Amino acid sequence: MLEEANWTVGRVAKRCGVKVSTLHYYERQGLIRSWRNDGNQRRYKADVLRRISVIKAAQRMGISLADIKAAFASLPNNRTPTKEDWNKLAASWQAQLNARIHYLETLRDSLSGCIGCGCLSLNSCPIYNPEDTLASEGEGAVILERDAALK
Ligand code: FES
Repeated sequence: MLEEANWTVGRVAKRCGVKVSTLHYYERQGLIRSWRNDGNQRRYKADVLRRISVIKAAQRMGISLADIKAAFASLPNNRTPTKEDWNKLAASWQAQLNARIHYLETLRDSLSGCIGCGCLSLNSCPIYNPEDTLASEGEGAVILERDAALK
């Protein structure tokens, strides 16, 4: 077995900045795969580092483990994913990420003004949401949700 296919769980955990228990969890979830050496110890191919890094980055962007797993299902488990494999995965998340970026931009730009949440606590609330009339349009921050959906 090549050295690159011989990473211990501790070495992978240290290099990726995750706990060993997290790697075991990812493996139970089918997100990563190991093989067993003669001593029945887990060993990993080096490409697991990229998989784990993508999992961490995707989670940081708010993508659920279920969605990550679904996207990974399109990647090969037994061979090192190619550039095309990773492109395919990135494309599957593009719309979701764009929507999330748009929502966060809207939140950033709207947070100092009335968002239509019903609190009527800002000077601008009587103008944008007099007596909480927006409650009739839905629950939550009506203006924020509307702006996030429209742009
Ligand atoms: S910010 Fe809550 S209703 Fe205006």
